[in-house]
Amino acid sequence: MERILNTENLTKHFGGLLAISNLSFDVMQGSITAIIGPNGAGKTTLFNLISGLLKPDSGKILYKEKRLDTKKHWEIPHMGIARTFQNLRVFANMTITENIMMGRYTHSSSGIFSCALNLKRYRNEERDIRERAHYWMEFMNIDSLKGKKLKEIPFEKQRLVEITRAVASEPELILLDEPAAGLNVTETKTLTDSIYKIRELGTTILIVEHDIDLVMEISERIIVLNFGEKIAEGPPKIVRNDEKVIAVYLGSEFAE
Ligand SMILES: Nc1ncnc2c1ncn2[C@@H]1O[C@H](COP(=O)(O)OP(=O)(O)OP(=O)(O)O)[C@@H](O)[C@H]1O
Ligand SMILES: [Mg+2]
Repeated sequence: MERILNTENLTKHFGGLLAISNLSFDVMQGSITAIIGPNGAGKTTLFNLISGLLKPDSGKILYKEKRLDTKKHWEIPHMGIARTFQNLRVFANMTITENIMMGRYTHSSSGIFSCALNLKRYRNEERDIRERAHYWMEFMNIDSLKGKKLKEIPFEKQRLVEITRAVASEPELILLDEPAAGLNVTETKTLTDSIYKIRELGTTILIVEHDIDLVMEISERIIVLNFGEKIAEGPPKIVRNDEKVIAVYLGSEFAE
């Protein structure tokens, strides 16, 4: 298996606060890798660095062995990397279908703003994109939300819409920041199935999540952060029994 992403001695400060500290890790192509750790450990900061919203103070991020941290943040989706946000970035006044259509426009040749220039082509393309959006809604088990406005549905369902939008861009690597937050047991089960389906597409999944049962079930590899530092790394059965991880985050209830 090849690695698709890796960091080398990645470091990010916010003033005097060390949010990511000398962090090196690999993510294998086609794998499900979880990043866990206490609140403020630097997990979202890491996603912001990978997706180019923040620039590291030092160290490197490589995607398919090429520098990623030197790219502009708007170039990164076109390289096959999609993400979701812990605090959603969705369009409340649009319908759910339209929100998901936004994910498809990374592939669109005429582009979202060219309608005035080439109306017919745009209309055909828009129809195709709408059909694809519906396809991905069925794929993610949210087709019951068709036709609704985003603001009409609860926050945790909006998160599923955001995940669907990311999946609809057909990324090679997807970063999910707390996808299960606020979901009930049944919804979490559906999400788990969807994550496996995303992986079956060949997509590599990097997930930040506090639902430890979910993390332990789906991850092949877990990286544990604490105050920006990697304190443990390995398969679930190793990480859940790691003394440092038990002490700072998991407690002994997950140990076997
Ligand atoms: N833009 C920023 N400016 C200043 N400090 C920041 C910024 N972003 C994050 N931080 C700080 O960096 C640290 C890491 O934050 P981060 O959001 O990455 O944590 P996290 O692991 O995602 O936590 P949580 O589990 O609560 O989401 C925290 O102390 C946070 O307050
Ligand atoms: Mg976070």
